[in-house]
Amino acid sequence: MIIHGKALINRSIEDVYIEIESGIIKRISKEKPRDKVIEYGDNGTIIFPGMVDIHVHMRDFNQAYKEDFYTGTKAAAAGGVCLVMDMPNTDPKNNSLEVLSKRDKLASKSVIVDYGLYYGLPDEKEALYGYEDIAWGIKIYPEDYNNPLLMEALNYNKEKRLLTVVHPEDPIDIEEGYRGLGCELRAIAKFIELAIKYGYRVHLTHVTSVNSILLSRLAKDHGVTLDTCPHYLLLNKNRRNEAYFRVNPPLRDEYIQENLLRSLSRIRVDAIATDHAPHTLEEKRGDDPRPGFPGLETCLPILITLYKHGYLDIWDIADLYSLGPAKIIGVDKYLGSIEEGKAANLVVCNIKDEYKIDPTEFHSKAKHSPFEGMNAYGKVIATMIRGEFVYRDGDFLVQRGYGDNIRRLTKNNHG
Ligand code: DOR
Ligand code: ZN
Repeated sequence: MIIHGKALINRSIEDVYIEIESGIIKRISKEKPRDKVIEYGDNGTIIFPGMVDIHVHMRDFNQAYKEDFYTGTKAAAAGGVCLVMDMPNTDPKNNSLEVLSKRDKLASKSVIVDYGLYYGLPDEKEALYGYEDIAWGIKIYPEDYNNPLLMEALNYNKEKRLLTVVHPEDPIDIEEGYRGLGCELRAIAKFIELAIKYGYRVHLTHVTSVNSILLSRLAKDHGVTLDTCPHYLLLNKNRRNEAYFRVNPPLRDEYIQENLLRSLSRIRVDAIATDHAPHTLEEKRGDDPRPGFPGLETCLPILITLYKHGYLDIWDIADLYSLGPAKIIGVDKYLGSIEEGKAANLVVCNIKDEYKIDPTEFHSKAKHSPFEGMNAYGKVIATMIRGEFVYRDGDFLVQRGYGDNIRRLTKNNHG
């Protein structure tokens, strides 16, 4: 198969023919081939590398009414995301080898994009041994900070060279009802100290401020990385309906948000992640709304919109939502750019036409969005994973179960 269009290659836009064989990009050429090509050469259409979202909640199990692996990965495919990394705060919790194996079986028969699983801090040390056969790393929540098993898990991950993703909010502050920026900064300080002292490989997820970035950078040479989410870039707490916009960590003051957005192209995070956290509309509209919202179908368009408004260069989009996250989880030999030898994961977007974000059109079960009504660019036209179109012109073209666990994919094909 050969695809023609303007593609983001080597930090520039190039008019190329991308030849794909056995799911891999075989050749990228400027010359028109004799064979038939799939044409995406229209004005305003750009081919990006497939996006990688390292923070999503696919729910399923007892919370399948909020989202399941099928609907969640449909949302991913429609949002140009080819790999999702799933969080373990499920019901039941994904922190035992038994639940982990169940979750993997359920995912592998349901997903239409590739996935990785994070494992929760287990209740016993023994449940750490061998978790990495299925899961990619461990996610640490504030309630885990004072658990004696935290150090066991960090040591285990260090020994096996595995990733630890941290939700940085200090549990003592949370208990006292304070979730302001200080709560986040104290947690970051704790984990960068652990990284510096003991050499743990720590990733801080959903940081909300420039202060957080600068603090984390003290441990840059010790491998500490971080991501932020579109909602911390664009939304702040000056909202009339505060409960509906509830999320953890909470939205910040306007000056903190503005500073994060305006600094984005200079004071860089290593990745953007959505923290796709679906709840039903009823749960969001009730008196005590659950925190979080879906993000998979809006993230890439939002990044493209930020580019259109001059906050980012076009290649920043791929750096932040494809190569950057691929590097954090250590799969950048295989994913993250349009390059010969890498997986044929591609996203075709229309970056010319403006449209309104309408959550009633979402494929996620969570048909609401804090970005509802926003004018955006970058509608996804097609998403290809390992050489197959999974999504094209509004249709899903692969069977449930097409996607696979990144643990198996990297083991089998790409060492
Ligand atoms: O807003 C949030 N929602 N923050 C979290 O840490 C959890 C997430 C969820 O699972 O709904
Ligand atoms: Zn989350």
